Amino acid sequence: MKKTKNEKVNICMVGAGYVGLVSGACLAELGHRVVCVDNDPAKIKLLEGGVMPIYEDDLERVVKKNVKAGRLHFANSVKDGMHHGGHRAEAVFIAVGTPPREDGSADLSAIEKVSAEVAKNMTDYTIIVEKSTVPVATCDWIDKTVKRYNKHHIPFDVASNPEFLREGTAVWDFLEPDRVVVGVSSKQAEAVMRRVYKPMKGAPIVVTSVKSAELIKHASNSFLSTKISFINAVANVCEKTGANVEDVARGMGLDKRIGASFLKAGIGFGGFCFPKDLEAFYWLSSQVGYDFALLKTVKDINEGQKLWLVKKVEEELWNLEGKTVALLGLAFKPETDDMRFAPVIDIVRELLKRGAKVRGFDPISQENAKKTIKGIYFAKDEYDCVKGADCVCLVTEWKQFGKLDQKKLLALVAHPTMVDGRNLYDPARMRELGWTYKSVGRP
Ligand SMILES: NC(=O)c1ccc[n+]([C@@H]2O[C@H](COP(=O)([O-])OP(=O)(O)OC[C@H]3O[C@@H](n4cnc5c(N)ncnc54)[C@H](O)[C@@H]3O)[C@@H](O)[C@H]2O)c1
Repeated sequence: MKKTKNEKVNICMVGAGYVGLVSGACLAELGHRVVCVDNDPAKIKLLEGGVMPIYEDDLERVVKKNVKAGRLHFANSVKDGMHHGGHRAEAVFIAVGTPPREDGSADLSAIEKVSAEVAKNMTDYTIIVEKSTVPVATCDWIDKTVKRYNKHHIPFDVASNPEFLREGTAVWDFLEPDRVVVGVSSKQAEAVMRRVYKPMKGAPIVVTSVKSAELIKHASNSFLSTKISFINAVANVCEKTGANVEDVARGMGLDKRIGASFLKAGIGFGGFCFPKDLEAFYWLSSQVGYDFALLKTVKDINEGQKLWLVKKVEEELWNLEGKTVALLGLAFKPETDDMRFAPVIDIVRELLKRGAKVRGFDPISQENAKKTIKGIYFAKDEYDCVKGADCVCLVTEWKQFGKLDQKKLLALVAHPTMVDGRNLYDPARMRELGWTYKSVGRP
């Protein structure tokens, strides 16, 4: 009888954050045996107790289901993760953080540390898969690092497998991606990566060189950032000319060459990916001798756009000293608790600088916001937030903010002025209700 080859892969996923935990849980959902490793013992303890350390829709269900099925495990060290329960990991994914340094470059020290640990604990052919977002040539550095610590000359490959999931829809994005990008330098590595993604029926697998795969991620995120800054710049022109940015975006987006997504004007992009990836791509281009000036402009437009909201509040209230500004929403986008590089951080800083009293509320990211933002009152709910406000600002378009009792809000504010940074409400309706209402690029 012909022996059937084991299609399942033993995987060690290092870094159990937004990317690592979601990817690990979803790879287990695809049938693989996965051990998620993190050097933050508190995170692993929570996971072992069935508590999610991050807020992400559907994650808890997928994690619990796969833990119960014996496919998903947790460990505190790379060593334990690579040999957990007597199972050797054939693929070790690296999904640790790559935070920005002062000069815009990415801090890759966690990647180096993990690579050394992996090298010391390999006992047979291992593929080391770089999943964090990193500059081109990082895999070369991983390769050199592994060689340095690989005392027993165990065969290995380094592959690049950038992740495109979005916080808020991460589980869905991982399981139903537009494409999977895999950068490899050997047939053996390609075969393992194809086995990893084989159960994911429907998604095209783009196999490239390692360097191309690394670049695809930076180029994709920078292009999406460019689209956002482009429509925000268009919104500014709309405001000066009386055109409506939503109509302009609809008219543009129906052209298939342009596409409708990422053409929503607002107060700019934030989060852990776009700002740092844009910055890192600009830095990398400069390092290799190319001045990618477009990326610098995209960043400048975004920095200006974050302060659009403060400018509008000033236009309505004149001096902000002693005035109360209420911020509805603090997260950089809905459906996430992530506060990293959220535009509201700059907005609060500028409002406080001008002497305003700031009240804020976010349904999910409030606890994380308290660690990041100081000097404001964190409200119990939306209605508590707007109490006595001279101006209410919509910062994050959480669904529940679309269903607020506007009459109740109006009864609680000191003055009925609203600046909508996400174009959540209908301008005519808001004015009918009695608000002095301003939004982005709409007359
Ligand atoms: N967050 C996103 O939406 C997203 C999407 C695509 C790609 N990325 C990229 O993926 C990478 C990870 O991002 P994230 O948002 O998951 O970050 P995160 O901070 O949520 O997770 C990183 C995890 O790695 C752990 N860690 C750090 N050093 C470690 C080590 N030496 N050993 C074991 N664990 C270690 C941290 O404790 C943390 O839990 C980044 O490069 C990011 O740019 C993020």
